Amino acid sequence: MKFFIDTANLKDIAEAQALGVLDGVTTNPSLMAKEGITGADNIIAHYKKICELVEGDVSAEVISTDFEGMVREGEALAALHPQIVVKLPLIADGIKACKYFSDKGIRTNVTLVFSAGQALLAAKAGATYVSPFIGRLDDISTDGLNLISEIRMIYDNYGFQTQILAASVRHTMHIIDCAKLGSDVMTGPLSAIKGLLKHPLTDSGLAQFLLDYQKGNK
Ligand code: E4P
Repeated sequence: MKFFIDTANLKDIAEAQALGVLDGVTTNPSLMAKEGITGADNIIAHYKKICELVEGDVSAEVISTDFEGMVREGEALAALHPQIVVKLPLIADGIKACKYFSDKGIRTNVTLVFSAGQALLAAKAGATYVSPFIGRLDDISTDGLNLISEIRMIYDNYGFQTQILAASVRHTMHIIDCAKLGSDVMTGPLSAIKGLLKHPLTDSGLAQFLLDYQKGNK
């Protein structure tokens, strides 16, 4: 299972990278704005910094909603760095653009996916990644994890190569549940990744080992 971090915060990205388990980064316009990164030039410079920090895929989202605009923006983003994956919204023009990029060998992440039917379309269009938003489904009392199971079943039935990128991961249990369900990738905040480290028996066990070592090595 690949671990992506869902942020544009360079400090968090560097911390996850230093942990040695990071496979990539996802961003979106809201995450960029949260870091105060505005204006096309600054956004492009920020994507380059992220690519320099990590070794894996970096999703960069288009803001156009028409096919021509998405193609223009996506081609420019893909040209920035070999690690860039063009992130496209799941709307009709996004699916057309996904097929266009797939035919050209440019990798894509189809985002804002909330149903199995949408995920099927993304796979048919040759998406590299599909991003079902599990946290936002949970927010409206719909089982986000069930969507991961449905997509897994459909993709396995037909051998689709599109990777399921569980997005809108909010906490550590989401990561564990997505791993159980066979999600190829998850993207979440640093706090959810670091939550995997935690167990009180690890802490108390280590404290006891160190105490016993000190007693025997006075
Ligand atoms: C996906 O790539 C999105 O950036 C993201 O996971 C959205 O998460 P949110 O619902 O926590 O905003």
